[in-house]
This record gives sequence, C-alpha cells and structure tokens, in this order.
Amino acid sequence: MMRKAEPFRIKMVEPIRMISREERIQKLKEAGYNPFLLKSEDVYIDLLTDSGTGAMSDKQWSALMLGDEAYAGSKSFYKVKEAVKDIFDYDFVIPTHQGRGAEQVLFPHLMGHKGQYVLGNMHFDTTMAHIELNGMIPVNLVIEDAFDTQKEHPFKGNFDLEKLEHFISEKGPENIAFIIITVTCNSAGGQPVSMENVKGVKKIADKYGLKLNFDSARFAENAYFIKKREKGYADKSIKEIVREMYAMGDYFTMSAKKDAIVNMGGMIGIKNDEEMYKAASATCVPMEGFVTYGGLSGRDMEALAVGLQEGLDVEYLESRIGQVEYLGEELRKRGIPIQWPVGGHAVFVDAGKFLPHIPAEQFPAQALCNELYIEAGVRPVEVGSLLLGRDPLTGEQKKADVDFMRLTIPRRVYTDRHMDVVVDALTAIWERRDQIKGLEFTYEPKVLRHFLCNLKPIEG
Ligand code: F0G
Repeated sequence: MMRKAEPFRIKMVEPIRMISREERIQKLKEAGYNPFLLKSEDVYIDLLTDSGTGAMSDKQWSALMLGDEAYAGSKSFYKVKEAVKDIFDYDFVIPTHQGRGAEQVLFPHLMGHKGQYVLGNMHFDTTMAHIELNGMIPVNLVIEDAFDTQKEHPFKGNFDLEKLEHFISEKGPENIAFIIITVTCNSAGGQPVSMENVKGVKKIADKYGLKLNFDSARFAENAYFIKKREKGYADKSIKEIVREMYAMGDYFTMSAKKDAIVNMGGMIGIKNDEEMYKAASATCVPMEGFVTYGGLSGRDMEALAVGLQEGLDVEYLESRIGQVEYLGEELRKRGIPIQWPVGGHAVFVDAGKFLPHIPAEQFPAQALCNELYIEAGVRPVEVGSLLLGRDPLTGEQKKADVDFMRLTIPRRVYTDRHMDVVVDALTAIWERRDQIKGLEFTYEPKVLRHFLCNLKPIEG
C-alpha cells in the first residue's frame, strides 16, 4: 500500500535543541524531579500536552488580521457563533478564555442543590475541581475494560450503562445534577465513546429527566474514531457524525486549545435553552468578560472560527491520529506496555507494568517521565497516582487504576522522526528498567500538588 504523508508542508520553523545529558540530569535535579518545573528551552521534544501547543495554519494566522477588537458585538464573535451553529447546530455560544473558564461559568447553573452527583465516563481533573468547587460530587462510570490496558476494545471511553442506570436509581434522580460525556475520554487514555453508547446514555438521561453536557476538547478526534470503528459511519462526514452526536446533548463546554487548534480559547455551547444562556451570560460578565468576547480578543476568535472547521478535515485527522498510532505501534512492537488500542491525542504508557518493582506510592509513571527526559530530552506527563493525590479525609495516598505516562502529541508540530527519537529512548530505558528508582516528596503542596511538588529518587 502506498504510504501517505502529512497533508501540509511546513512554512515556518522554531529551532529546538538537545542539551547534554549532564545538563539534563542537573536541570531535572533543579526542577525537583518534576518536569512541570523544567524550562521549555531545556526540553528537546515537548510531549507534556496537546493543549494550546498546536501549529496554526496559514489561514488561521491570516484570519488574525481580521480580528474585530470591539468590546461588544465583535464581528469575530459572530464568526464563532456561525461556526458553532454550522458544526453542532447549537443556537447559543459564550466564548471563554479556555476550557476551565467554560466549566466555571456554566456548572453553577446546572446544579439543583449542594451534594448532588455529576456523573461522567471519566472527568478531567479541572472538570472534577469545578464540580467539587460548586459543592457537587464527581463520579466516574467508565467501562471496566478502560483499565485493562492490554484488552482490545474499540471504545474504551464508553459509559458502563448498567452502572449509570443503577447509580441513578439507587441515589434518586433528584440527587443527580447532570451527566458529562467526555469525548474523547482523556483520563482513560484519549479513548473514544461510540455513538451507540451516547444513545444509551441519552435514553437513560431522558428516562430520569437529566441534562447532558459534552466535555468537547477532542470532539473531532472522537468523531474520526466513530467513522473508522463503528458500523454504519464509514461513509459519513466528520461533521455529520458530530451533529448526530451533539443533537443528543443539551450543552457543551469546550477547551478549544485541542481540536480547534488554537493556542488559547474555549467556549460554552447551548443547544436551545435561552434561559440557561441568559443565566450563564450573567455569570460570564464578572468572570470572563462581556458575553461576546469572554476572555478572548477578536483575533483569537477569528483563529478559533477557522480552526473549528479545519479540525474536522478528515485528511488532517487521519494524519494526526495516524501519527499517534505510529508511535504506539512502534512501542508495542518492542514490548512496551501501552494503553491499547492507542487513543486520539497521546500514547499512554502503562508505567505500573513497565516498572513493576516501583509501588504506586513511589510514583512509577513520574519516575519514567524523568528517565525519558534524561535519556533524550523528551518531556511527557504523569497521569497516575501523583496526579490523583491523597484521600482528603484520611490523608492516605490514593492508588490510580493505572499509573500512566502520557506521551501527548501536539497537532501539526512534530514529524515522525521526532516520534522515532521517543521510540529509541524508551527502548533503551526498557532494557535497563530494573535500575529505575521510585520517588519521594521533599515538598508536597496541599492541593493540585503534581504541578508544583518537589521529589527525589529513593536511594537503596
Ligand atoms: N476537559 C478535558 C477533557 C481536558 O482534557 C481539558 C484540558 C479540559 C477540560 C480543561 O481545558 O485546559 O483549556 O482549561 N486538558 C489539558 C491536558 C490541560 O493536558 O489534557 P483547559
């Protein structure tokens, strides 16, 4: 079969460099063995996140010049509104500075009373934080197979529908605030949710009179997986799939820094609930800014309106997800345990299986991140027990279902040659994995500790 190349050519470049191994060892020590605290100029290949790290297209850059910087009623806002109507068929949109801004503005209005549950396949950390800040309780109801990294399943982001219905009927629908479907499901490994599963969730939501919110950071990548893997969707366009799915929802919150390929931005979408639009608008003004800019400049909104459409291009998605798959397959060929099948935006390495001699409370995934930085200047991110934190009541370290090291691929930024560096480096580490040591804290902040903590290797 003839191989395909990226559907773009590179018009502008940003030089990167690899500092020496001795320097990397020193920089990591200075950063308290926490890659968040490294300077990006000391990183060779930055796989910390796919959020806001994508490369905008020539069309997006030129759209910046059209930015209408009016405080109210900006032309650029109406372009975003038009794109949202066209893609999702939602009537109302409120721009926000990023995804968590959208959560902050919308969530208080979705709550009936404090102590209600918010049911999700698997909530992202900021989403969980905003649920808790509003006095609600986040619950994850993803299928069990999501945690079996070696098990083949085309839609590991799916809800366990039985558990969902059981939870609602047991607690009573009056104690459920709303349901969030995260597409793709980041925390489970960038894993997609099937259309059939969304239909199942919708049916249960209707039965109990509950509202559905889509956490939409990677909505286009999810639609691409449906096109590729779900029966009946091969001939549908990405937009048709998105529309079919979003017709089942009431609202969406979106970090536009992912699939809409902008460096900053987010939004709330509301299908047709004008009362909700008015309520959320009133919260937006003091939090994010006037309702036609919500923390974004006119030029940001121009790039966003273009990026939303570009992100639906099937050739682009094939190349983008193809690159993530390429990295995953090369690692798998070498016996390295990863979440399988590979998700949309990242390869999630199962660090618990990679380093079985390091217990969860010594953070195997963080140890592996550090080792990869030392080996090749690559910066991944821990998605495991370090991120999860302690039980707020007992203070005990919680154990993640899987200790993941996430190799997150920015959009349109790196080539497959960069992926090869990651493969070579991890293969070298795999050969000497038994020498890697666990970590302990030298400084542990009380909340969201993984961002700012300091650690050191446990000697002995
Ligand atoms: N929801 C999901 C599923 C996300 O992945 C993120 C961010 C957010 C909400 C919050 O959006 O960052 O724009 O405020 N995920 C990034 C990541 C940070 O690295 O996975 P934000």
